[in-house]
Amino acid sequence: MTVYQQTFPLNRETAIPAVGFGTYLISQEDAKEAVRAAILNGYRHIDTAEVYENEESVGAGIRAGIAEAGLAREDIFVTTKLWQGHAAWGQKLKNEEETVAAFNGSLERLGVDYVDLYLIHAPHGGAERLNQWRGLLEIKRLGKARSIGVSNYSEKHLEEIKAAGLPLPDANQIELHPWSQKPELLAYMKENGIAPIAYSSLAPLSTWRAQPGQDSAKTEAMKISDGVLAAMAAKYGVTEAQLLLRWGVQNGYAVLPKSLNPERMRQNIDLGGFVIDAADLASLKAMDRGDGIAWSIGDPTHTD
Ligand SMILES: NC(=O)c1ccc[n+]([C@@H]2O[C@H](COP(=O)([O-])OP(=O)(O)OC[C@H]3O[C@@H](n4cnc5c(N)ncnc54)[C@H](OP(=O)(O)O)[C@@H]3O)[C@@H](O)[C@H]2O)c1
Repeated sequence: MTVYQQTFPLNRETAIPAVGFGTYLISQEDAKEAVRAAILNGYRHIDTAEVYENEESVGAGIRAGIAEAGLAREDIFVTTKLWQGHAAWGQKLKNEEETVAAFNGSLERLGVDYVDLYLIHAPHGGAERLNQWRGLLEIKRLGKARSIGVSNYSEKHLEEIKAAGLPLPDANQIELHPWSQKPELLAYMKENGIAPIAYSSLAPLSTWRAQPGQDSAKTEAMKISDGVLAAMAAKYGVTEAQLLLRWGVQNGYAVLPKSLNPERMRQNIDLGGFVIDAADLASLKAMDRGDGIAWSIGDPTHTD
């Protein structure tokens, strides 16, 4: 097993581990053990969010993992996200003060005194979107988040920050895999020094959120494999999941695989033993289908 321990730069002071552990759909009941196991298997980045409703348990897992692995808090990169509110779901949009208060709530639930990365979960902030970003800038100024960023932001939302004369995010966490490659957004982000973090890297797999109700955005046609990924993975002697994750890190995207299965958890960070060659990278590039499927699709308000 070759645990992939590389990091990518986020800002002048911070680097982000290339492989992190995602915790969406991991319950409060399961998260402590899952995060503890992830740390013992070599994961050094844990990704959670206020809206995942598992921060207490994720925090307990981080403490347990750190203690058992003989690590320090500084060895683990912790990301959490602001739930910004969503008017289309009848929710109030958080203003700057409520953003800072929500952050402090996350810190308390996680049981940490700083996070490594704090993100605005989605650009649904409407009239408060810039104020939410101002809240994150204040949190960073206070040293409570070492880096700050956004998630699911399009070029339009990033331009809004620039037009207001505010510092740009360190990172934008977006759905990225061979079916959703977003080349224009990535080029814009590169030009502006905004690091990409990839979520739902495993979306092309039949096992991705396979339980009823978890993969509603995936059509029946999407669940049928054309065998291309399987054949390519077989060539390198790896699984399709490893191929998809290697594609991410080889492109310079930090990835966040989630698994509650111990064997998959181990294989998802075992990415150091092979390199995808140029011909296969070109075949993967041709698989782009545009927009993602993880949660943005089917939500017409997503890009407000
Ligand atoms: N910012 C955002 O809006 C946003 C949106 C979505 C996700 N995220 C973050 O990104 C993380 C990852 O995204 P995700 O949860 O959508 O999914 P993912 O990590 O791409 O895929 C997870 C799914 O694939 C299965 N799986 C995991 N490893 C596998 C393997 N080696 N072989 C076959 N199947 C495997 C898992 O099932 P088992 O558990 O049974 O293995 C689960 O159903 C999230 O947990 C979250 O932290 C962020």
